[in-house]
Amino acid sequence: MARYLITSALPYINGIKHLGNLAGSMLPADVHARFRRAQGHEVLYICATDEHGTPAELAAAEAGQDVRAYCDEQHIIQKTAGERFGLSWDWFGRSSNAPNHRLTQHFCEVLEKNDLIEERVDKMVYSVDDRRFLPDRYVQGVCPYCGFEHARGDQCDNCGNLLDPTDLKEPYSVISGSRNIEVRDTRHLYLLQSKVQDRIRAWVDAHAGHWPALTKGIAYKFLDEGLVDRGITRDLSWGIPVTRDGAPRPGFEEKVFYVWFDAPIEYIGATVEWAEATGADWKRWWRLDEGASDVRYVQVMGKDNVAFHTVSFPATILGSEEPWKTVDDLKAFNWLNWYGGKFSTSNKRGVFMDQALELLPPDYWRWYLTAYGPEGSDAAFTWEQFQSAINTDLANVLGNGLNRILKFTASRFDGRVPEGGEDTPLEQKLQVEVAEAVAEATAQFEAMEFRKAAQAVRRLWVLANEYLQESAPWTAFKTDPERAGVAVRAGLNLMAVIAAVSAPILPFTAERIAAALGLEGPLPWPDADGQAALRRLVPGSTVTVPDVLFAKIEDEQVAEWTERFGGAG
Ligand code: MF3
Ligand code: ZN
Repeated sequence: MARYLITSALPYINGIKHLGNLAGSMLPADVHARFRRAQGHEVLYICATDEHGTPAELAAAEAGQDVRAYCDEQHIIQKTAGERFGLSWDWFGRSSNAPNHRLTQHFCEVLEKNDLIEERVDKMVYSVDDRRFLPDRYVQGVCPYCGFEHARGDQCDNCGNLLDPTDLKEPYSVISGSRNIEVRDTRHLYLLQSKVQDRIRAWVDAHAGHWPALTKGIAYKFLDEGLVDRGITRDLSWGIPVTRDGAPRPGFEEKVFYVWFDAPIEYIGATVEWAEATGADWKRWWRLDEGASDVRYVQVMGKDNVAFHTVSFPATILGSEEPWKTVDDLKAFNWLNWYGGKFSTSNKRGVFMDQALELLPPDYWRWYLTAYGPEGSDAAFTWEQFQSAINTDLANVLGNGLNRILKFTASRFDGRVPEGGEDTPLEQKLQVEVAEAVAEATAQFEAMEFRKAAQAVRRLWVLANEYLQESAPWTAFKTDPERAGVAVRAGLNLMAVIAAVSAPILPFTAERIAAALGLEGPLPWPDADGQAALRRLVPGSTVTVPDVLFAKIEDEQVAEWTERFGGAG
């Protein structure tokens, strides 16, 4: 058994996340965590809210709240929504908590001792009317790369390029809208990434062999362009204070660390929070000198986060020259679009996590977002595709097959797994097919090929229907009840396999199927041996018929939701 540390990109605190955020980071990380746990591995799945920086300050200002109170409230909202979606975090922390303060200040101090930090006087965008500097998202303007008119100071949402506020053309203040903007001197700390780039390249060379193309491409693009030294402090009041030798750093009393410096450190910080709360040992997950060398570390994120995780965060870690665990497998996702365009919080386009759960239970969304997610390329959410995925895959293929066999067991076999009778070539063929499908699902889950894993799982649902069609216990029962019993037993056992294999994606449904079969969840990952896998249920044990597993989505619902959430128009 191995140990898996799994982190998903930390969601910004500024409001509940939409389905695109869920599909590209937290959900696939959860699916993988559940899969590895079912295999019997030791798993630590860590996430947290990313609470600092301009996104938090701006959202709090918009809500008319003090930023700390705003973060307290939003953290609970996001935690609750995630738990209702079945995200099985071992810990959901906060980047504003004490462990992250300590760690972030520690990293900066060691980096400075290693001559990788420099104070520089810098030119920064200053708003005369607001009487303050405008870091990152406080300033917007025209993107110098693609001409997009509302590029943010830290990154262009249109072309994805990372920006510096002074790069923007025609800048304006997001606080007041004022265009009375000057460039003024201010002092900041710089992390000298140029000095560690050879080390980072060597590290990427050593690790990128098993990274997917999307991840690898982004990492090398940044390395080939040459790493630039990056400012890691900002003129803001909300954030982690800048220290030297444990005391406020002279000249930096009004400044804090840049959110992208402290956020990834919170992966460690959240693990410390977990350890403090549970009495566990965090170092065996993170310190190579304390047992972490046998950890396999998996990160999951949207593609806009890849540069930070393949270059910036490694610069912090490697530059410290301390024995920290670094990422092994880095899985990146593309965008989930809303019809042709983007999800947009401000324009109320798209569905957010809390709203989604008002409409339908979590497994409907988990299936759609995994099986049709933005994995190899961008994907577009449409109500029509969602409806057809649910109605075909879940209601017809999975739901009907299960319902049919359980009802038949109830009416003809007294609700018990039939006893007696011998397998025929039909069952032997099924064993082979099940073994193949389970092996395929296992391989795809292991490779973190989520869409393919979902298709392999679906293959088992289809197999169940095909087998029941062919073995036709309802017909056989009239002439040869024992033969019908063999088929029903095989069918019920196949449902147990299905429950186990579907559980990473459909945990709530899997639990219901297991309960109907009289099994205690969570089920272990099935044996690759088809014969053993189909001998799990004890003949004579009781099964029950659950309520309808999945309700079909009606055209009227699609019309109503299109109206409410904005569709194609
Ligand atoms: N909050 C960032 C985003 O949503 C992701 C931060 S990932 C972290 O894009 F590791 F840096 F925290
Ligand atoms: Zn751009």
